[in-house]
Amino acid sequence: MIKSVIAGVGHYVPENIVTNDDLSQRMTTTDEWITERTGIKERRHRKNRLDSEETTSFYGFKASEVALKNANLTAKDIDYIVFATLSPDYFFPGCGVQLQELLGCDTIGALDVRNQCSGFIYAVSVADAFIKSGMYKNVLVVGAEIHSFGLDFSDAGRGVSVIFGDGAGAIVLSSSEASDSRGILSVNMHSEGKYAEELVVKFPGSKSGWSDNLLSNPDLITAEDIYPVMNGNFVFKHAVTRFPETILEALQKAGKTIEDLDLLIPHQANLRISQYVQQLLHLPDEKIFMNIQKYGNTTAASIPIALSEAILEGRMKPGDLVCLSAFGSGFTWGSVLFEY
Ligand code: UT7
Repeated sequence: MIKSVIAGVGHYVPENIVTNDDLSQRMTTTDEWITERTGIKERRHRKNRLDSEETTSFYGFKASEVALKNANLTAKDIDYIVFATLSPDYFFPGCGVQLQELLGCDTIGALDVRNQCSGFIYAVSVADAFIKSGMYKNVLVVGAEIHSFGLDFSDAGRGVSVIFGDGAGAIVLSSSEASDSRGILSVNMHSEGKYAEELVVKFPGSKSGWSDNLLSNPDLITAEDIYPVMNGNFVFKHAVTRFPETILEALQKAGKTIEDLDLLIPHQANLRISQYVQQLLHLPDEKIFMNIQKYGNTTAASIPIALSEAILEGRMKPGDLVCLSAFGSGFTWGSVLFEY
């Protein structure tokens, strides 16, 4: 039977560290407020907000280079690219094709996934299905974001802009027919579109009007159209229900229990959300990985960045049962369970 195994992992974050105190110079906020509500102490931002070279696909490229090296593969070995992001270089085409060019892959397929904080889980599901079907051998799965160019750093946007950060993570998922128990055991995805506007960026889009609106009457476009709008309390309440649900679902589908789990790597949405989930599932500190303190919420990039750091920090060893889980805009949520 063909299984998907993680052959290599990598991440990349820009050097520019933005602390809570830095943000308090730009808007009415404090380190105390941000730390208490989110656990975030700092995040990375692209140095120059107007930099057209340092793009989301470039971050994905930097992370991919590390993942390929760790997998002992080259770009020519990759059969397919799945790129998850909500902050692409262009409205279209997507980042997958930019990455194909940057890496110098053959003219392989490149798919973009638009599922925000759950993007990486959805991206892994596509790669896993292609591998298990026998269609592809090595699939590059990337989550990358540059949020800092699209956030409202005035007081009106402070409930959102303090949370998000820039960065990228990548994995190479490869096929294996080995008789060991390594590999992806279960993949789970959900959506509830009635809550689409609880966490949304409206422009550009067919609902809020296209560029012709902007050209003919720029006054029609408001801050609410171009910046993310989030009903924070509402998102929080749904997140703390859906995270545990989908983690338990992943275990149950694989015939495992929460006691079998060695490490939970949740999407880094908010430290309080992760701590709530940890308590509810009675997980000791060593069984959950959190790095939101350093990077904020990097949406599609948060899980692969955390996975990469968990490996570098020796938090995962071969044979460990690991669960990735996410919840976010859409609403969408899901999980991936694998043996490392
Ligand atoms: O992956 C999914 C992505 N999103 C999330 O996971 C977000 C989930 N939600 C959250 O993390 C929290 O709801 C937030 C951290 C976003 C906000 O925390 P909250 O406890 O829900 O705060 P709030 O929005 O109810 O705002 C409380 C107060 C308000 O002032 P008043 O009306 O009580 O006077 C806000 O204006 O805090 C104010 N506020 C701030 N104050 C200082 C909002 N943002 C800030 C800020 N600094 N940055």
